Amino acid sequence: LDNGLARTPPMGWMSWTAFYCEMNCQKHPHACINEQLYMDMADRMAADGYLAVGYKGVHVDDCWMDRQRDAAGRLVSDPQRFPSGMKSLAKYMHDRGLTFGIYEDYGTKTCAGFPGSYGFLQMDAQSFADWDVDYLKLDGCNINLDLMPVGYPEMARALNATGRPIVYSCSWPAYLINQPQKVDYNVIGEYCNLWRNFDDINSSWKSIMSIISYYDHMQDKHIPTHGPGKWHDPDMLVIGNAGITPDMARAQMTIWCIWSAPLIMSNDLRNIAPVFRDILQNKAVIAVDQDPLGKMGRLVANTTDVGVYLKPMTPVDSATGETSFAIGILNRNPVNRNSVEFVLGRLGLSSPGGYRIDDLWTGQLVGVFRPTDSFQTVVNPTGANMFKATPVALANLKGLRFATFK
Ligand code: DGJ
Repeated sequence: LDNGLARTPPMGWMSWTAFYCEMNCQKHPHACINEQLYMDMADRMAADGYLAVGYKGVHVDDCWMDRQRDAAGRLVSDPQRFPSGMKSLAKYMHDRGLTFGIYEDYGTKTCAGFPGSYGFLQMDAQSFADWDVDYLKLDGCNINLDLMPVGYPEMARALNATGRPIVYSCSWPAYLINQPQKVDYNVIGEYCNLWRNFDDINSSWKSIMSIISYYDHMQDKHIPTHGPGKWHDPDMLVIGNAGITPDMARAQMTIWCIWSAPLIMSNDLRNIAPVFRDILQNKAVIAVDQDPLGKMGRLVANTTDVGVYLKPMTPVDSATGETSFAIGILNRNPVNRNSVEFVLGRLGLSSPGGYRIDDLWTGQLVGVFRPTDSFQTVVNPTGANMFKATPVALANLKGLRFATFK
């Protein structure tokens, strides 16, 4: 959507995959959907370095509403769990340099059964603008699927008519997963800044793998329709949650960044081990995701266990047009390490001058390689390694020579 927003993939935090629709705040005072949860996460984002590296949005998901609209038909937040109201919650975020995202559904009800926007699109868009909302996730439960191409654009127009810049995230294609012929990403990209297209993630390797395999399968359809202002959204980062090891965390982060995917965490930032915080806050890795070219990387080599991904990125040689590349190497095997070796030029790293290669997870320089050189790395089970290859003409070589690093 060409509204000047989301020129790089959105980054932030969202409640769903970590806290779902827990509404029993007596029993779970620190893990229920209430305003305190979002304020706690905002505090952690601002104080613990997340905001500083780009995680900016705090996003409410389903279950924030009262069961009924008010007498005028307007949405209202649950009075017990959000006593201060959404405008005040938005202010809490803005006061800390964060942005505020809200959730609704195009249908008659949200997936969890709260009032949906069907028949109220303009009124709801105006409420969001009145509350100083910066981002809307519009889900697609409880609606006739044939209305998707009607309602999602209608909400885009309604948001635009409020005059407030609001990033617009659509679940439109996710609900058409069984009718791919009805999914035209060029059209969706005209109306939405980002969109979900596959199943909800959960905090398991199986779920991460199923998303990666779907995206691998769809890459020829996804890559050309992805870029600044219009992003495919493979769903939230589950890094920091029980069930996800550091290797799995690096794997999810590597592949999401190779894709230029939105980086929206769903975890408990009050209670996260430093190893996961460091993975989420790796600046060189985030820079791959946020690269201004906004290209979705491609799976370029594949075996039963291993996938090698390449993403063209800056810096670009203005004389030759040669780009730099991020390289992601994923080992899907659940128990065995894999030694991976390839000749650079075979995968498309063909700059005649060669490349400086840096390991983005260890922060180490690997060396300088010609297109005819072979590159070798060992990847942990359920893990990924990640590198950046910069054409020699654009790289700081600090006196390095090819002969020294091969
Ligand atoms: C389905 C969406 O895909 C999820 O991300 C979440 O928003 C739930 N609905 C909420 O009901």
